[in-house]
Amino acid sequence: MKVISIVGARPQLVKLAPIAAAFARTEHEHQIVHTGQHYDADLSDVFFSGLGIPDPDVHLGVGSGSHGVQTGAVLSALDPVLEQARPDWVLVYGDTNSTVAGALSAVKMHLKVAHLEAGLRSFNRRMPEEHNRVLTDHCADLLLAPTEEAVRHLASEGLAHRTRLVGDVMVDICLRIRDQVRSGAFPAPELPEGIDPAEPFLLATLHRPDNTDDPERLAAIIGSLARLPVPVALAAHPRLVARAEEHGIKLAQGNIRVGRPLPYASLVAAVLASIGVVTDSGGLQKEAFLLERVCTTVRPETEWVETVRTGWNILVPDPHTLTPTEWTETVTRPAPVGDPGTPYGDGQAARNVVRLMEELVEEGREGSRSA
Ligand code: UD1
Repeated sequence: MKVISIVGARPQLVKLAPIAAAFARTEHEHQIVHTGQHYDADLSDVFFSGLGIPDPDVHLGVGSGSHGVQTGAVLSALDPVLEQARPDWVLVYGDTNSTVAGALSAVKMHLKVAHLEAGLRSFNRRMPEEHNRVLTDHCADLLLAPTEEAVRHLASEGLAHRTRLVGDVMVDICLRIRDQVRSGAFPAPELPEGIDPAEPFLLATLHRPDNTDDPERLAAIIGSLARLPVPVALAAHPRLVARAEEHGIKLAQGNIRVGRPLPYASLVAAVLASIGVVTDSGGLQKEAFLLERVCTTVRPETEWVETVRTGWNILVPDPHTLTPTEWTETVTRPAPVGDPGTPYGDGQAARNVVRLMEELVEEGREGSRSA
């Protein structure tokens, strides 16, 4: 079997790591196409080296641009690559512009498309990721759902026949790296200057356009973080840095200590060292849950509803509307009691994905032999 993974942005590289490792344990041919959506070393290279992912076989080098420009650039660059390779499966990940472009290019060439992390929904049509997910799910042949909730969403959109529950590959990688961090396999996390990992601190990230692109809103959120009575380690995404600069908003205010985006093992170590997380990232909400740290999400909704239902995550769309005491008590609240179970699976999702694709290719071959 020949499979091409199409990735381009940081969260996809995290998901690619366990998939590439699962393929490496088989005889199958697995090729990696990097679209180049993320090109900064902090958002791309350190994930390949840090997570032991083989170098991409093809790099499209599309870079940044408006949604249309970026998506269109991936589409036109992919056609000749996929035409030449003609894989059994094209595997696309998550919900970025690289995901929807990969799926669209492949389906138009009558190549089978599998969508990893299918069925997530925020029901917020302002989010570019929501358009990308819905469009990708509706054009893919195989919908690899991470949770029961995702399976239900796909069924309600008439896609049950293409859906399989495989678990979440982020559990595979997060728990593996957690164990390595605990056993001392990595140096101390690269925290921003001024953060003492032995003292209580919060880990924060912010990159969603809805939070970064409106100057008033961004200033209010940064102000709320700055006024917290505990140090806040802000691992700043390039979009946040660019928008703050553009709007003349200083990130290093009050108790905020600004650092660069963290490589994966550093991020896991930083979450473990922290007393809690404040974020608008999807992946980090789940990592906080898996690593047993309370999370406060600066968004009106989440795709990862299990983190909220189990009490590990609280949604605070507008921190600046809370009183300083309410806000502080929310982000520094104690961990909930009770067993949250394993809503994201048992850490074997990547193996499930490879086996399923293999079975379906085999069934297809048998079908065409008996026809
Ligand atoms: C993308 C994904 C988002 C994901 C996030 C993780 C889409 C629509 N969004 O958002 O789902 O959560 O990645 O990081 O695909 N930039 C750099 N260097 C880079 C990449 C980007 O400086 O290597 C800056 C540029 O100013 C760029 C901006 O960040 O315009 C936004 O980058 P883009 O890839 O369009 O979206 P993200 O916000 O990173």
